[in-house]
Amino acid sequence: MLKIDNVTMRFGGVVAVNQFSAKIDPGEIVGLIGPNGAGKTTVFNMVTGVYKPTSGDIIFTPNGTSQSIINLRPDQIAQIGICRTFQNIRLFKELTVLDNVFIGSHLRLKSGIFSSVLRLPNYTKQEKAMYEKAKYLLEKVGLYEEKDEKSFSLPYGKQRRLEIARALATDPKLLLLDEPAAGMNPQETQELMEFIENIKEEFDLTIFLIEHHMEVVMGICDRIYVLDQGAHIADGDPLEIQNNPKVIEAYLGVD
Ligand SMILES: Nc1ncnc2c1ncn2[C@@H]1O[C@H](COP(=O)(O)OP(=O)(O)OP(=O)(O)O)[C@@H](O)[C@H]1O
Ligand SMILES: [Mg+2]
Repeated sequence: MLKIDNVTMRFGGVVAVNQFSAKIDPGEIVGLIGPNGAGKTTVFNMVTGVYKPTSGDIIFTPNGTSQSIINLRPDQIAQIGICRTFQNIRLFKELTVLDNVFIGSHLRLKSGIFSSVLRLPNYTKQEKAMYEKAKYLLEKVGLYEEKDEKSFSLPYGKQRRLEIARALATDPKLLLLDEPAAGMNPQETQELMEFIENIKEEFDLTIFLIEHHMEVVMGICDRIYVLDQGAHIADGDPLEIQNNPKVIEAYLGVD
């Protein structure tokens, strides 16, 4: 589904990611972990077209056909099926919960600006379908009751779920989650793990996940990549990663 091939990202003198490679198969949940500043979010920014890698390539194969995505814009990458959430929640705070999800599905809107401004029948029909879909997604993420509330009024854990619902509205094949459990209490974290596994099945997703909560990473990931100071230091299944001396050293220091 995704092949990250020897990518490097420099910002002036800083090498944020250094010759990193990774591979994600369809249907997998793959984790990306590492200490603060390791380069994890930068990897997501390259996969979603926010940054173009200084060198290396990223290949996306959503349904049998491979293409390099490093020259595509973020909206083009979203169109072909890669969507993400952000480390710091980015919702339209003053809009309702429902409208936040509705906006996500605009990416799939087939009519142009004129039919939307003039509200031609073709547009209103699509708009109606998009609202139905947004409501369906809100039911799926357990936020239907709150659909008419302003999104800023939701508690933190629900805002995170809303952001995921908005990402789902774009019909992604590959979903990137940047620290979805950040700021959550143990109860919310537990619910989030079940939630991620459920949406993966329901929407036939492949998931790439950055997370500091180790119980999440170890509990739901099929495989894990570990970055430290921009460099790949390990990959493997959760048990291998937990027992890898390099990983332990990167997190805890020597001795
Ligand atoms: N736009 C940028 N300009 C300059 N330096 C950047 C930029 N983006 C990231 N960096 C630097 O690249 C390094 C990696 O940052 P990144 O945000 O990818 O780390 P991270 O692994 O996501 O960390 P955290 O766990 O704290 O979120 C850091 O040293 C950061 O300061
Ligand atoms: Mg980060």
